[in-house]
Amino acid sequence: MIHSLEEIKKNMLIKLDTIENGAELEEWYVSVLGRSGSLTSILRGMAGLSKEERAAMGKSANLVKQELEARFAERKAKVDEYMQEMRFKKEAIDVTEPGKRDVPLGRLHPLTQVYREIRDALVGMGFTTFDGPEIEYDDYNFTKLNLPKDHPARDMQDTFYINENVVLRTHTTPCEARALMTLEPPFRLAIPGRVFRVDEVDASHSPVFMQLEGLVVDKNISFGDLKGTVSAFINAVFGSEVKTRFRPSYFPFTEPSAEVDMSCTICGGKGCRVCKGTGWLEILGCGITNPHELENCGLDPKEWNAFAFGVGVDRVASLKYGISDIRLQYENDARFLKQF
Ligand code: DAH
Repeated sequence: MIHSLEEIKKNMLIKLDTIENGAELEEWYVSVLGRSGSLTSILRGMAGLSKEERAAMGKSANLVKQELEARFAERKAKVDEYMQEMRFKKEAIDVTEPGKRDVPLGRLHPLTQVYREIRDALVGMGFTTFDGPEIEYDDYNFTKLNLPKDHPARDMQDTFYINENVVLRTHTTPCEARALMTLEPPFRLAIPGRVFRVDEVDASHSPVFMQLEGLVVDKNISFGDLKGTVSAFINAVFGSEVKTRFRPSYFPFTEPSAEVDMSCTICGGKGCRVCKGTGWLEILGCGITNPHELENCGLDPKEWNAFAFGVGVDRVASLKYGISDIRLQYENDARFLKQF
């Protein structure tokens, strides 16, 4: 028995030294020290021995067992270390390696591009930018703009109400009130922003879209100033060959009010599908600021007057790039955005 103990020890230790992975280690352990392993069977076989023999055998067997366990632990530590090293090698990243060269560059959203073009055209005419909140008081969105609570023109804009006094602004015009109440005139402002209306989404409607408001406050402003500024701004964005025309219209916050058309950018004014055969495209609303609005905002209309205009930035982008569906401008589909 002693002999076979030594035999097992010798063979198993030789084998142990050749093992290089966890699975083989496990197998080795089970085959010698496991429940039906070779050493375990020997220990079981001791039952038939005399008391003295058993004591002596037990001692040797325990020594062998201890040594095998110890050598196993040693080998396991080595194998673990080796396997970790291999993994590190395999997963290593060379941080000094140069990047792939064809990294796709991001680009500006067409709305942002068009907004910046409009803004730059206006900044070139002495405008500065101004900002207001998207969540707005009913008072600023309507009442101060000459649209009291019972005014029928409130229905022109389907409003998201947060509560009786607070709305999602339906246009950028409430920023006019904020500017008039806080800034020292004279000033010229370009006021961009998202606006909100209760609208079913379709090719030409979106419950959120982007407007830009222009506001010029000074002394002795005439409709001619408005016409000149708006025409120059349209020419700066769409090109000098584009013609403009002003049609009388109605907005509560301006008097007189006008809607502005520009000659169709697709057919040049001959008439086509986009301009529905008229040769003209409606582009913005404008007017001489209603004295009531100035008064409501603390300015004396005898001393100061103003003109204003409001343009849909997405509408400008649609016309400029021939985008027939407004949804494309708000869906952020990379295939669409890549084209700009
Ligand atoms: N606020 C108007 C709208 O959303 C657009 C507008 C028209 C703005 C005339 C103006 C203006 O400043 O003078 O439909």
